[in-house]
Amino acid sequence: MGATVLLTGGAGYIGSHTLVALRAAGHDAVLLDDFSNARGDVPDRLARITGAPVTVWRGDVRDRALLARLFAAHRFDAVIHFAALKAVGESVERPLDYIDVNVTGLVALAQAMRAAGVFRLVFSSTATVYGTPEAWPIPEDAALRHESPYAFTKLTCEEALRQAAAADPRWQVGILRYFNPVGAHESALIGEDPQQPPNNLVPYIGEVALGRRPALRVFGNDWPTPDGTGLRDYIHVEDLAEGHLRSLEHLLAGRGGHVVNLGTGQGTSVLEMLAAYERAVGRALPHEIAPRRPGDVAVLVADPSRAAALLGFRARRTIDAMCASAWAFVSRRATGG
Ligand code: UD1
Repeated sequence: MGATVLLTGGAGYIGSHTLVALRAAGHDAVLLDDFSNARGDVPDRLARITGAPVTVWRGDVRDRALLARLFAAHRFDAVIHFAALKAVGESVERPLDYIDVNVTGLVALAQAMRAAGVFRLVFSSTATVYGTPEAWPIPEDAALRHESPYAFTKLTCEEALRQAAAADPRWQVGILRYFNPVGAHESALIGEDPQQPPNNLVPYIGEVALGRRPALRVFGNDWPTPDGTGLRDYIHVEDLAEGHLRSLEHLLAGRGGHVVNLGTGQGTSVLEMLAAYERAVGRALPHEIAPRRPGDVAVLVADPSRAAALLGFRARRTIDAMCASAWAFVSRRATGG
């Protein structure tokens, strides 16, 4: 029989794709979301994709009274905790808000879980916890450092969970360090749909392709990389969702907590990503070379071997599939579809 899983932030970009992956594998999920960075129609779209209605609790993960009601109303086998703030630049301006939502949110959730006797947790972390890496590909035992308040909150959450698990062996925690998730579900009904102007590369290229921005600014072509532009490990969000499924099933099988990178192990440059998006759109897109963006690093590429060995997880989808699905989603959204 399938598990029942609480997805905090379940209407968001990665949470929504994970719900689809869970249902395809015979599990079910309840969403908790405050819809601060998700559209209100995502639950209906998830129902269309999966063929069954979705139970949604609307609210803030820091709301302890709400959490108590939620855990009293459902018997959860596990929780996947996506709900968080995630913009690095904004975190520099609003560190206390980031600490409140991300760290206080996790603590409130974990205490509500403990009170309800639920101890399996999959936690969304980030490759940003590696800071400026010394070498790549990056294994999970590389040095960790926070170079922004956002990274600080994710490292603090990881450490809080390590300490909780050390103190109480009932905790089974999967920590997933995402590299750069991009792309959209093959239905083009859900995808990355930021409520604010995008800072990330692929959503920004989408805006250029829609004619809403004049040109992509390539942040530096003098990095120590083959074409001088930044190299990242882009992972299709549907692969990333499957990584969550593998982590969850590892915990459900009692095989223990883990910390794993979710990436492909392949580096793709900004110009290579632009070229792939141009293939998806079928025409050239304007770009210009701009100065380096403060805080950027030259290369961020995962060593994905632990996820393969431990969880049997390998990302399969190509850069072209990522860009084609991202474009299918944003172009459909732009025409009201
Ligand atoms: C950022 C966040 C990271 C987060 C990830 C996914 C930082 C330092 N890191 O990673 O925590 O997990 O997004 O949401 O913010 N680029 C351009 N022009 C643009 C936008 C980006 O050239 O308009 C380049 C960047 O310089 C970089 C690459 O594209 O080389 C990827 O950038 P981006 O998509 O913002 O992701 P990261 O910075 O890697």
